[in-house]
Amino acid sequence: MKHVPEPFKIKTVEPIKMTTLEYREKAIREAGYNTFLLKSKDVFIDLLTDSGTSAMSDAQWAALQMGDEAYAGSRNFYELEETVRDVYGYKYFVPTHQGRAAEHIMSKLLIKPDDRVPGNMFFTTTRLHQELAGGTFVDVIVDEAHDTTSELPFKGNVDLAKMQRLVDEVGADRVPYVSYETCVNMAGGQPISIANLKELRAFCDKYNIKIMLDNTRTIENAYFIQKREPGYADKSVKEIVKEICSYTDGCTCSAKKDGLVNIGGFLAMNDEDFFVAAKGEVVIYEGLHTYGGMSGRDMAALAQGIRESVETDDYIRYRVEQTNYLGELLTEAGVPHVVPHGGHAIFLDARRFLPHIDQEQFPAQSLAAAIYVETGVRTMERGNVSSGRDPETGKNRQPALELVRLTIPRRVYTQSHMDFTAEGIIRLYKQRNKINGLKFVFEPKVLRFFQARFEELTTATTPQAHLSIE
Ligand code: F0G
Repeated sequence: MKHVPEPFKIKTVEPIKMTTLEYREKAIREAGYNTFLLKSKDVFIDLLTDSGTSAMSDAQWAALQMGDEAYAGSRNFYELEETVRDVYGYKYFVPTHQGRAAEHIMSKLLIKPDDRVPGNMFFTTTRLHQELAGGTFVDVIVDEAHDTTSELPFKGNVDLAKMQRLVDEVGADRVPYVSYETCVNMAGGQPISIANLKELRAFCDKYNIKIMLDNTRTIENAYFIQKREPGYADKSVKEIVKEICSYTDGCTCSAKKDGLVNIGGFLAMNDEDFFVAAKGEVVIYEGLHTYGGMSGRDMAALAQGIRESVETDDYIRYRVEQTNYLGELLTEAGVPHVVPHGGHAIFLDARRFLPHIDQEQFPAQSLAAAIYVETGVRTMERGNVSSGRDPETGKNRQPALELVRLTIPRRVYTQSHMDFTAEGIIRLYKQRNKINGLKFVFEPKVLRFFQARFEELTTATTPQAHLSIE
């Protein structure tokens, strides 16, 4: 298996604990079978998320010492503003403490009650903020994105026919913007193509609809474009990132991913009125518009992180190919997962991994818990639990994708950690019939996946048997 070597060496180490099977069985029971509720000290390899879990470089740690903690006008703000402009190209920039804060402000300013917000698949916090602002999310991603076996190279693309149907149905004035995400998280980290973005731009120009980018993983997406899209092989990732942003009107960004920092986010745009309004909101919810919930040193580390992520293409090649390496190990062993492999994570297909568990018994949640018990590796459910209940019907949304995400933090784990993870999951796959479904014992009203608690159903049941139990 081809492995791109890590383009860094290790200067500081953080020990991680190896535990026994019995220890982990107890820990997951106490955590209500929810990997979000495990204590990090009980986790061996933490693949819960790539959010805020990056290792910073020596230059970023040095930048922390250069924090200017002035309440107003910190020099790190100006440095970050200039970096965002240089890399992403937007005229105006508003810092926030993380991505969902930018989503909150944007949704509040752009969405009117009863608006429809089309997007290339939902993201949990993004959709919630759209709903809180009175809007309704409409999925306009290509159908293949909902099929874990489709090998389409750009499964994140928007289906223009779905956009047309929406506009014909409700009228363009009820569609304030398209929420366009790069390396679509819930679809398995699937990229968008420049060709699709150009087509969408032409469509939106016709109807006077904005394109707001969810810029969280654009650098990873640019690497896929370089690798897969005709005409881009000789362009640098930095050039491609700039080109992507140039077709959009602004963005929200969780800088905790591509930005190589532990906290941070921003909202950026080209429209001056929107900028003035966003600055007005940020002072209410985040802090002054020159820090927006970040300290001066956070902004310094982020500016350095953004620069490093595009300085050469070596970092991003290693990053995406490390994910691919893990995926290839699972492919060889026949473990069902989303293909093509995404940028930040490998997503196991829990429906095919655990066909004996009905979706109402949360197969992905059960699988995430079983992986922890078997290996000490922490993963995340992205399926029926994350998707929540339909506000109208009150029923579980039962999304087509019932996935477990093995999310790779940036610059944190090595090839041997990937080997260990794959070996454990392959072992579990061979005894998958022993895994049981779950039922809720505590279900929070919003973003339930974070704090929900479950109990194990004692025997695995077929969907029909499950119905008769209830
Ligand atoms: N958009 C996308 C595509 C994300 O993946 C996330 C966060 C957000 C917005 C929200 O940003 O967390 O900084 O407030 N994703 C994390 C994850 C939580 O684990 O996928 P945030």
